[in-house]
Amino acid sequence: MSPRPPHTLSVAPMMDWTDRHDRFFLRQITRRTLLYTEMVTTGAILHGKKHQLLDFSPEEQPLALQLGGNDPRELAESARIGADWGYAEINLNCGCPSDRVQSGRFGACLMAEPETVARGVEAMRAAVDLPVTVKHRIGIDDLDSYEHLSRFVSTVAAAGCETFIVHARKAWLQGLSPKENREIPPLSYETVQRLKQDFPGLTIVLNGGVKSLEAARAHLAWADGVMIGREAYQNPYVLALADRRIFGENTPAPTRREVLERMFPYVERMLAQDVYLSRITRHMLGLFQGQPGARGWKRHLSENAHRPGAGMAVLREAMSRVPDAVLDARPEVDAQTAAAH
Ligand SMILES: Cc1cc2nc3c(=O)[nH]c(=O)nc-3n(C[C@H](O)[C@H](O)[C@H](O)COP(=O)(O)O)c2cc1C
Repeated sequence: MSPRPPHTLSVAPMMDWTDRHDRFFLRQITRRTLLYTEMVTTGAILHGKKHQLLDFSPEEQPLALQLGGNDPRELAESARIGADWGYAEINLNCGCPSDRVQSGRFGACLMAEPETVARGVEAMRAAVDLPVTVKHRIGIDDLDSYEHLSRFVSTVAAAGCETFIVHARKAWLQGLSPKENREIPPLSYETVQRLKQDFPGLTIVLNGGVKSLEAARAHLAWADGVMIGREAYQNPYVLALADRRIFGENTPAPTRREVLERMFPYVERMLAQDVYLSRITRHMLGLFQGQPGARGWKRHLSENAHRPGAGMAVLREAMSRVPDAVLDARPEVDAQTAAAH
């Protein structure tokens, strides 16, 4: 199999979820899957606490910074700062429908303004030597025709964007919460497929509703990449075979115990910097999803990790609630999948 580019599989940007601790944890499960930050607004980057917003561990790479904003100069300056910080890609959010984002006139409402997005992309591309990508919906409100979507993509592509991450549902800017906007508008993979057909030279990444590597592989028959959001957070071990199955590597998938043991030095380092244990372990609650011991693991962490002084003993005790057979099970690529490589 030829080397697969980074976009082949990625984990979606998710506010409050894909912070640096979550990304470090995911990186112990998959080395190759591209990771994204939470959305960071240009205002926060330019006027806020940059280290708090942008610092990450080198182990998190490949890592993309997602920006929220609409002003070309601010986007360019934020992208430059992101490049200096060491991010591997700059992504512009054109898909978030929250009220806060709408009042700033960025996120999903930018789908109504392809020219604004194009100017932003142009400015960022001039400012940095990194891929500049756009994440968007298939439509918003009444602007939900394929023609509008296709005009959005062609306008932004003409400004130099080569990679589009398409959340395969529209967003309603009024009346639905962000959560409802991830559930109620129906998924339309056909629309994304049509985009790929009409723009074969662009890198088109499918996002929305993908819950397994098998499903991702099926989409990769026509899409250039697949981005997984909620499932990767709530059931992170779904990514255990990503390096083998999606990226064609030979390294064995880590067991859950290995994942946790790789976290130990990181947790110790963070505790020494006065980070509460729960800031890290809250992202690890789903590691045993669907397995014997999952409930005991979650309960022990939920009840104890937030307590002042909670440390490694809490983590080890939570692990002891899980049977060794689960901790040490190593998923294998089945013979048929291996043969396809
Ligand atoms: C808690 C949460 C926060 C999110 N925050 C962002 C964000 O900051 N930027 C963004 O582009 N999308 C955000 N999203 C949307 C996801 O990136 C993704 O597009 C969406 O969840 C659909 O993919 P999925 O069905 O695989 O979850 C968020 C989703 C969730 C669940």
